[in-house]
Amino acid sequence: MLTKTDIEHEKLKHNSPFFKTALAPTNEEQQLLFTLKNIGKLPDNFEGNLFVPLLNHSNPKIRCLAIKNVGKLKDERYLKKLIKFAETEKNSLARREAVSAIGRLKTENAISILTRFTTDTDPKVVLQAVRGLLYFKEHREVKTALASLAEHPNELIQEQIARELQQHNHTDTSKTLNHPTSPDTLKNVMVCADVQDVLKVIPDESIHLTFTSPPYYNARDYTIFPSYKAYLDFLTDVFTETHRITKEGRFFVLNTSPVIVPRISRAHSSKRYAIPYDIHPRLTKIGWEFIDDIVWMKPEYAAKNRNGGFFQHRKPLGYKANSVTESVMVYRKKSDKLIDWNLRQYDNETIAASKVLGEYEKTNIWQINPATDKVHPAVFPPELAARVIQYYSFIGDLVFDPFGGSGTVGHVALLHERYFFLCEKEAEYVERARQMLDTSLFSGINPRILSLSELKSNIVEESQKL
Ligand SMILES: C[S@@+](CC[C@H](N)C(=O)[O-])C[C@H]1O[C@@H](n2cnc3c(N)ncnc32)[C@H](O)[C@@H]1O
Repeated sequence: MLTKTDIEHEKLKHNSPFFKTALAPTNEEQQLLFTLKNIGKLPDNFEGNLFVPLLNHSNPKIRCLAIKNVGKLKDERYLKKLIKFAETEKNSLARREAVSAIGRLKTENAISILTRFTTDTDPKVVLQAVRGLLYFKEHREVKTALASLAEHPNELIQEQIARELQQHNHTDTSKTLNHPTSPDTLKNVMVCADVQDVLKVIPDESIHLTFTSPPYYNARDYTIFPSYKAYLDFLTDVFTETHRITKEGRFFVLNTSPVIVPRISRAHSSKRYAIPYDIHPRLTKIGWEFIDDIVWMKPEYAAKNRNGGFFQHRKPLGYKANSVTESVMVYRKKSDKLIDWNLRQYDNETIAASKVLGEYEKTNIWQINPATDKVHPAVFPPELAARVIQYYSFIGDLVFDPFGGSGTVGHVALLHERYFFLCEKEAEYVERARQMLDTSLFSGINPRILSLSELKSNIVEESQKL
């Protein structure tokens, strides 16, 4: 029985007859697959021709692994074989490997064939061809080929091309140099005002993270909207502005759930609104890139009982599930920069101090008990805010909650050495937040409760100092 150690051992020997036997096309498929998968990095003097007969094997997995290994040789002598394989192979995965191998040769002789593969029917083959061509992106014919893909119907190809074109014309602005910083006027501030008015005065790219739970349409009594469309339009407006004031590549986490607006009489049915599903397409249209769907799961006792009727009659169509979950949807401000870029904006000490040490939640189901408050009817639990803040921000970051309520996000942000910026239109809840953010609990921190006009004049004053 062949082992990985045997393969490693034989690779060290020059001209070992072992591979001639192990890669013979007449071998059992399982053995061939095992050898091809575990051969790993090939020594410089490896006899690549041993893979060639396997390129015609009847098993596409073997053909795919064989071409991958030919690719590892990065030897232009195999270019013709790679081209022939890529042109005739029907299996998409194997064709991708061949095109990737051609690209990795980094030879000008491959430009025309890679250009031809930019019209392949498999978008992943096109992406491999683009990757190979990017090495020669200064060549005129390559520029033309790449530009012609700008309107490609596949979104990943479109994004890749847009990123390339942007990088070409892009020089980093000073904004990015200030990535870890935020305006002092917003730090540890709660504004008692309508969030739409507040957002208008906030400078671009001021905040690092937003975590919020908006009003639940008309299911609770604190905010009444004329229609569901008006409600979604309102949220869209707030989250468009939130996008503007968010720093490049940073996160937006939204806690919502479907709601029921109760029936008006027994002759009517209640109406259920799927808020998370209806708001999602609007968010991606704004430019929030979907990252994760986390489910906040509450214990069964926390759910309103909806199946009393079904419990009695047990008739189909009348079943109603008791809802023990809420959505915690995670988005990132769409950017051509990778998360690594965001990390590089911070110094090593901040990154080390922000690490999430010890136990952490590994799945997208977060089991957390709900919280109640003596004043606010719909607070989220501090544990929920604590996870979001720790997973999606760094120490010293500015965390925003446009619908601040009793100030849970502010309180938890301070506990985790972040700054907060909150809006809340109801004075009663702002007063409750004032108690939650009591300075005696956080020594050296001076949370400020401001009116809209106070906030405005502070922002004007700060901008004049610059
Ligand atoms: C679901 S609650 C948020 C509760 C908060 N997460 C907490 O833990 O206390 C939504 C809040 O948004 C506030 N709100 C609704 N419309 C608003 C608006 N236009 N501007 C500012 N706040 C608003 C409501 O008064 C309510 O307190």
